[in-house]
Amino acid sequence: MVAVSTLVVTPLDPSTGLSGEVEIGGAKNSALKLMAASLLTGGGHVHTLRNVPAIDDVDTMAELLRSVGCEVDGPGTDGRLVLTRPDRVRTDLTADGPRELVGSIRASTALLGPLLTREGEVELPTPGGDDFGRGARPITMHTDALEVLGARWEYDGAVVRGEVPGGRLHGGDVRLPYPSVGATENVLMAAVLADGRTTISNAAQEPEIADLAAMLNRMGAHVLGAGSRRIEVTGVRTLQAAEHSVVPDRIEAATYLAAVAVAGGELRLRGADHRHLDVVVERLGDTGTRVAPDRGAVWVSAPVGRRSPTNLQTLPYPGLATDQLPMLVAALATATGTSYATENVQTGRFAYVEQLGVMGADIVVDGHHLVVRGVERLRGATVSATDIRAGAALVVAALRADGETRIEGAEHLERGYAGLVEQLGGIGAHIRTG
Ligand code: EPU
Repeated sequence: MVAVSTLVVTPLDPSTGLSGEVEIGGAKNSALKLMAASLLTGGGHVHTLRNVPAIDDVDTMAELLRSVGCEVDGPGTDGRLVLTRPDRVRTDLTADGPRELVGSIRASTALLGPLLTREGEVELPTPGGDDFGRGARPITMHTDALEVLGARWEYDGAVVRGEVPGGRLHGGDVRLPYPSVGATENVLMAAVLADGRTTISNAAQEPEIADLAAMLNRMGAHVLGAGSRRIEVTGVRTLQAAEHSVVPDRIEAATYLAAVAVAGGELRLRGADHRHLDVVVERLGDTGTRVAPDRGAVWVSAPVGRRSPTNLQTLPYPGLATDQLPMLVAALATATGTSYATENVQTGRFAYVEQLGVMGADIVVDGHHLVVRGVERLRGATVSATDIRAGAALVVAALRADGETRIEGAEHLERGYAGLVEQLGGIGAHIRTG
């Protein structure tokens, strides 16, 4: 278990903005799935992932893979992670050790597809992850879709048990009721070893899906159309080990863009991919924050002072990501007018709004909408990070708040951000662990 920690942020000097360069690492939500995909090969295969972020969720996934029998080395400071698949992996994750690990990250659901298709069976306790205000996050879209490929499920309280009558899944036409990221990934990973052709309609189009497909294709799979609404997979009998570099983290990038929107200044985000940030760039443009591609990086600048308001709504990719909204709302809390924001993806995900309120923000929650009336200044306070992005929003807000902000629950940030304190300190923010 990660130690509980507090971050202390004091405001930047009145006339100084952020300046310099930060490093954007590999995407958390891709790295975790690529790690799970290593289970799809036979014993002895050694996979190498590069650009893997040194974050707690990667350590948890590494621990989970070790608990089923894999050897995992890294990630080192060079972002390299090496996974060795044993001959036999454990498919029952209900024992105490794995159960606790499954319970602590949502990405543990990504083991369903690989274990089911490769081993013909899987037993998984109800997966965990952040609670966005509506209790348990369901996985029925995953299990229903895998049923189309021949999986059979039994639910027993807090455990879901899957098996494949006949031993091998078969291809099928899956139409997802919603472009769920996790369900698309599970079907994709299951279909690559199924017998025949699978189509996934209404698939999630996130860059992390295209990244997973790219790794699967390097392993010898036949996946077409990943990153579009319709994915086609032709199953193969076996897959080989692969070496793959994780796609840059567009959520981490959006966090630093929001930081500049709040604090002003000029920053270069080394390693960020401008193409995955379209909507964020457009909406920040409305506020007077300029963002542009810059030779393998993204450049952002804003004058020191308040931003203009804008309106935001989250949607499946290529829409604005639900994970990017909290940081942008934090930036709009001190805008010169009223902004409206709608959360369509994780509709109960507003715990951070109350915490921004403690800092003096004027934000009204109306169903899944927010009315953000910009105030001149926020004030430092003791606030609590309830999940990764809530914590990031509070850090962003604190950069210009009057006085000291103490962010409790900062261990959530370590789940998703590598070197946040060092990176922010390096560009002029006053931040330390408390
Ligand atoms: N949903 C269902 N039933 C299902 C699956 C999903 O109702 O069987 C609902 C969810 O409750 C949610 C919506 O569909 O309201 C979207 O869920 P999706 O399946 O797309 O999300 P996910 O795969 O569980 C990933 C990221 C989240 C990110 C979402 C949306 C990982 C590990 N997590 O979750 O990231 O918010 O996609 O983009 O990849 C984070 O990084 O902080 C984070 C929470």
